[in-house]
Amino acid sequence: MTTTKNDRPAADAAADLARGLALCTVDADGIALLRLGSADEAMVTLTRERLESLDAILQQLAGDARVRGVLLTGPGPGMFCAGADVGLIQSITRVEDGEAAAVRGRSIFQRLQQLKVPVVAAIEGPCLGGGLELALFCDVRVASDHAATQIGLPEVKLGILPGFGGTQNLSRLVGLPKALDLILNGKLLRGKQALKQGVVDRLVPSAKLLRAAREELDKRIAAGRKAPKRQLRGTAFWLSRTPLRALAVRAAEKALQQGQARFYPAPRAALQCCVDAFTKAEDRGFAAEAKALGEMIVTPVSKGLVHLFFLTERSKRLGKQDGARDLQRALVVGGGVMGAGIAGQLAEKGLRVRLCDVDLAPLARAKGRLQQELKKRLKRGHLAPHEATAIQDRLAVGTDWGQLGDTDLWLEAVVEDLSVKQKLMAEAVARGLPATAVLATNTSSLSVTAMASKLPKPGRVVGIHFFNPPEKMPLVEVIRGRDTDDATVATACRLAVRLGKFPVVTADTAGFLVNRCLAPYLNEAARLLLEGTSAEAIDQAMLDFGMPMGPCRLIDEVGFDVAAKVSAVMQAAFPQRMVPCELFAAMVAAKALGQKTGGGIYGKDGKSPGPGRAVVAQLMQRRGVPPRTASRTELVQRLIYPLVDEAYRCLDEGIVQDERDLDLGLVMGIGFPPFTGGITQFARREGLANITAALDELARAMAPRFQPADGLRRRALAQ
Ligand SMILES: NC(=O)c1ccc[n+]([C@@H]2O[C@H](COP(=O)([O-])OP(=O)(O)OC[C@H]3O[C@@H](n4cnc5c(N)ncnc54)[C@H](O)[C@@H]3O)[C@@H](O)[C@H]2O)c1
Repeated sequence: MTTTKNDRPAADAAADLARGLALCTVDADGIALLRLGSADEAMVTLTRERLESLDAILQQLAGDARVRGVLLTGPGPGMFCAGADVGLIQSITRVEDGEAAAVRGRSIFQRLQQLKVPVVAAIEGPCLGGGLELALFCDVRVASDHAATQIGLPEVKLGILPGFGGTQNLSRLVGLPKALDLILNGKLLRGKQALKQGVVDRLVPSAKLLRAAREELDKRIAAGRKAPKRQLRGTAFWLSRTPLRALAVRAAEKALQQGQARFYPAPRAALQCCVDAFTKAEDRGFAAEAKALGEMIVTPVSKGLVHLFFLTERSKRLGKQDGARDLQRALVVGGGVMGAGIAGQLAEKGLRVRLCDVDLAPLARAKGRLQQELKKRLKRGHLAPHEATAIQDRLAVGTDWGQLGDTDLWLEAVVEDLSVKQKLMAEAVARGLPATAVLATNTSSLSVTAMASKLPKPGRVVGIHFFNPPEKMPLVEVIRGRDTDDATVATACRLAVRLGKFPVVTADTAGFLVNRCLAPYLNEAARLLLEGTSAEAIDQAMLDFGMPMGPCRLIDEVGFDVAAKVSAVMQAAFPQRMVPCELFAAMVAAKALGQKTGGGIYGKDGKSPGPGRAVVAQLMQRRGVPPRTASRTELVQRLIYPLVDEAYRCLDEGIVQDERDLDLGLVMGIGFPPFTGGITQFARREGLANITAALDELARAMAPRFQPADGLRRRALAQ
């Protein structure tokens, strides 16, 4: 509680430190320095305990006549507060408990506002969710320009909304349009952007943060008052405080009807709360917000997203396994679609990279691509100009590998040909790649074990399978070959985490996890096309299921040539179940490969019918079977249920170790709807027995490929 440095009992202080609660000291000038955690805390979250500790401190501060002002800050450099403890969110299962938790949290935060003395927040590092809501109850917010500073209300990403006053305070502070943009999209701002948006009042270099915050506090103390409420001006005023507000609301509603937004109820509830900030008295606005939080926190969507959050945390921990090393210097061989993207990612995250190709043209394209990417991020304010320059400086390109003496990561992304890859790996060893360096392949279908088999130290060969485009796709499959050692797997996982990706470790079998599950899904879509269901109907059914893109459009994006190659690999491995649909080869023969050739099933615009429709029509005519349109139910059963079966097969064959890998891998790798919490969560909710029965019926009436595995049957019986 509140103490001077001298009168605080050492035992109490030690106990608080041990529990990582809020700590407060008052100096000789009457300035209370309130820290949201102890110095050794890397991540500060608002647990129940910390909230109660904060409550007790604020009550004491209110009654302490010595106190002239309060400085609120994080436990140390680079950390303010990352928001509510997600475990707390997960534990709440009743609307009334969620509402009560919101009321309690907000009333604690309101004590800051009720203090008679000014309060200034000094923000550095994550200031997210409840952390920002706390800062919004302060009179002034000063932020540091530290690279770790991130400010926002990302609650919608967990299927909830800011419930500790955030929708009300942020809306009134920055106006309705900006608040809606930030809250409904869960946007995070860096310090400079937060200043521009009016979320913070001042931005200073990291080293000056506490001094600047103190200056602000002294100003308020000298003026003898707390900060006056900021008035909205111009468009922000008109679109918030007048009937023109309807325009901002309509624009937000329209955005919420598009794409996958319709599956997420929290942004809609948050929208109403933000409007309440201008149409309801303050206490009623707060009360409505707490009620909305209670309603959202119990939804299956929130529970699914929270489940996924924990899976991402688990995946990040893979980067901390024993033996994991930090890599510094990379040589990427192959500067095409994948190599260029991977090299850019490595350079961005601080590795010195040399990108090599046999051709100059891809290298020039790779440089240009990185420049474009950085330009976009500069424009959005996600990057400072000096950071962009440093990233570009870290990426060198050339046709010659140069010296390998200090390379600790050698990664190939050349053509999908085993002998080429084997030859290049042998060359790397022969040219003096250090014995400790990792040899990685980005192969999407070849055997890592086979690549390593002829090398003197096969333990350091690993698959690091990025998805296309590597700049955007969050999953990395780390493929453990037969001989790959644990330290190499751990180091590859650490690299993936450093790049901001989520690693899933898989065994070295055809298609690994993601392409293995994707194969029957895309194959079935092609079969449905040839039976007579339109591409539009197939794709719409999957969009309505919650997939980000329909399977027909996806094949167009991937390319029929790639799909045909992958299906051949899958057929060789699983000849009973994965016979490729004849459409793949026919589209390749007709050169209607998809987006890369100006159209496949769809035209270049991805919407209008493409040249591939004629190929479909021809094949249908040749088969001579009358066309039939599958119902929505049939489409889900034939496209999604085999995906469930295939995922469990992967688990039972040891391709991944845990159901949680299936959930994370397929959400991040193929866009399985995140709001379900992942494929196994979906399957259990749908009923494993229902899925098994439907697959049995399809196998009986249509084709043996639908026959579910014993693993699925066993689980269905046990559910
Ligand atoms: N494209 C995808 O969607 C995707 C996704 C994941 C993994 N992959 C895998 O990544 C690898 C590369 O695929 P891509 O799509 O980037 O191919 P790409 O054809 O775009 O690029 C391959 C590059 O390798 C270069 N190259 C060929 N032989 C070389 C050699 N001996 N030395 C140096 N450079 C050489 C080529 O000039 C070309 O620029 C493949 O193994 C592929 O299976 C591709």
